[in-house]
Amino acid sequence: MTTKRAIGVFDSGIGGLTVVRSLLQRLPFENIIYFGDTARVPYGVKSVDTINRYAAQITEFLIQKDVKMLIVACNTMAAVAHQTIADLSPVPVLEVIDASARMAIQNSRNQSIGVIGTPATINSNAYTRAIHLLNKDAKVFSQACPILVPLVEEGWLDHPATQLIAREYLKPVLAEQVDTLVLGCTHYPLLKPLLQDIVGNEVTLIDSAEAMADIAADLIAKQKIGNDQTSRAEYLFYVSDLPYRFQTIGERFLGRSLGNVELISL
Ligand code: DGL
Repeated sequence: MTTKRAIGVFDSGIGGLTVVRSLLQRLPFENIIYFGDTARVPYGVKSVDTINRYAAQITEFLIQKDVKMLIVACNTMAAVAHQTIADLSPVPVLEVIDASARMAIQNSRNQSIGVIGTPATINSNAYTRAIHLLNKDAKVFSQACPILVPLVEEGWLDHPATQLIAREYLKPVLAEQVDTLVLGCTHYPLLKPLLQDIVGNEVTLIDSAEAMADIAADLIAKQKIGNDQTSRAEYLFYVSDLPYRFQTIGERFLGRSLGNVELISL
């Protein structure tokens, strides 16, 4: 059985478009409805209560759109509000943290794993918990990197300032001889070349966007809920604000033109 119902993807802003980009490559026939809370981004420095409240509103919005599954692209929401979202959702909820933890464990030879993310993600300990559920002996070294999100939004993807700041953030993690580094934030996949340069080729970068697309593809195949391959996929993008340079930044994240973007308030 196939279904035309869309995959609902949500994020605190436009960073989640890195996940959509991976989904488009992995699942080119799936319809996607995206919601980015551009009016209230960033979530990564907000309190747990606020993040949960916002996450509940977005879940209700996407469920009303009759999506067949929900993908929480935002690491911060996945880390802090996964239970709230799962409790409200009648359809399966996939989130990036479990996906990335699995990929990290599979890739790491010495089971010494670094994780970088927003302060809310790192303070929640969600990555450490997810990794320890898979291997309780794995060593996890986490580092919050609050300044990386604005640098990516500024488009400073290979700027010397970004290099300097990223190097500083990564120093304590690299001192622990990690051989795998989880990019635990929607924005970090865009910094992959710069980060790979800093950590060296012996360290594997785990891209949470790619990890997510793989898990979504598995679930769709298992539950046989894929879209048929005869019609062109439709993409709808909803945002709560159209900020300055939205189109340019959004297209950088998505890797192609955005097309239909609708402004709504929750
Ligand atoms: N989407 C967030 C994340 O993946 C980054 C931006 C924010 O702080 O809201 O953690």
